[in-house]
Amino acid sequence: MALKHKLNFVDKELEILKKNNLYRKLRYGTSQGSVITINNKKLINLCSNDYLGIPTTKIQIKQLQSSSRLVSGNDESYWKLEEALAKHKSHQSGLIYPTGYMANLGAISAIAKKGDLILSDELNHASIIEACKLTDAKISIYNHNDMDDLNKKLKQKGKNKFVITEGVFSMDGDISALKQITEIAEKTKAITIVDDAHGDFVLGKDGKGTPNHFNVSKKIDLYISSLSKGLGSFGGYLTSHNNIVDLCINKSKSFIYTSALPSFLVEYSYKRFQSNRERQKKKLEKNTKHLVKGLKQLGYEIKSPTQIIPIIIGDEKKALEFGKYLYDNGVFAQPIRYPTVPKNQARLRISVTAWLSGTDIEKALGIFEKAHKKFYD
Ligand SMILES: Cc1ncc(COP(=O)(O)O)c(C=O)c1O
Repeated sequence: MALKHKLNFVDKELEILKKNNLYRKLRYGTSQGSVITINNKKLINLCSNDYLGIPTTKIQIKQLQSSSRLVSGNDESYWKLEEALAKHKSHQSGLIYPTGYMANLGAISAIAKKGDLILSDELNHASIIEACKLTDAKISIYNHNDMDDLNKKLKQKGKNKFVITEGVFSMDGDISALKQITEIAEKTKAITIVDDAHGDFVLGKDGKGTPNHFNVSKKIDLYISSLSKGLGSFGGYLTSHNNIVDLCINKSKSFIYTSALPSFLVEYSYKRFQSNRERQKKKLEKNTKHLVKGLKQLGYEIKSPTQIIPIIIGDEKKALEFGKYLYDNGVFAQPIRYPTVPKNQARLRISVTAWLSGTDIEKALGIFEKAHKKFYD
């Protein structure tokens, strides 16, 4: 009873979330290719980040090293993958972290400090927002992809200035104005940081990412990404100048004070990196065109130029109802709500993968047609 009393504040917080339609619940499902099975129900999976859908890669599961990389948790597999990734991004060195989230936390907090100025896009991912808070730098948020606002806010004082943006924005699917950002950064001597978790392996020649898409790879000082999305593996990494990577090895707390990613996962990533990504990338592009064209014909307003396609609903409750309707009819596309997106901008975040067949897409479009009649007409 005493314990229950002590935890009243937890109950209250949960109640508030439920009342505001912001409560989240874990679902247990198994996902295989284009299909996800939840409660024995098979659904077309339109919310996987395994964009390229590289066929399953066989690796041998080895004994875990169970140590930080700076102690005994390091082996040749790391070196091989880091070198390949750095070359892929036209950078000198690479560094693997256990996750992309940790790469953002570790790298940004290692290089920015008191007296510095960080310019961060207002739609940047939670891991960037949290990373900025770990520094004692001044944080200035510029309007989404708004170069006038960035220019204006860069006039503030700062010993070192950093501009941080996502490459492909995770909840809107739009692409950062990297060409203009690198030009502005050059003029103001700002350091450019790009989190390209959703553009990596998908955009640019050979999937080199958003900077390559704009031909500005060499102008990006620090490239941060995830191995858990386009590559369909697990882990995070960064590539940069030798000395920035060296500083991260020495100062990133999320690199130093945690156990290394199991090296069999590093080998898994390497094998997938070496696989026929180009074939999968073409399939992804074809599927994205197919779905976008169909959704537009049905009357949905689609603005995204990439494989992340939000259908903006606005109201949280309505977004939940929309998601449930799709679920009941055989499509899995999760409603995304505050705080992942701003309040009253709830949406269905559809992500296309190369796993989907033309038939899957047509079936899904049939369900979206019924949903449009129910929710819009
Ligand atoms: C833009 C962005 N950065 C970083 C991350 C974190 O990546 P990871 O899943 O590897 O931790 C995500 C994942 O949701 C993301 O969307």
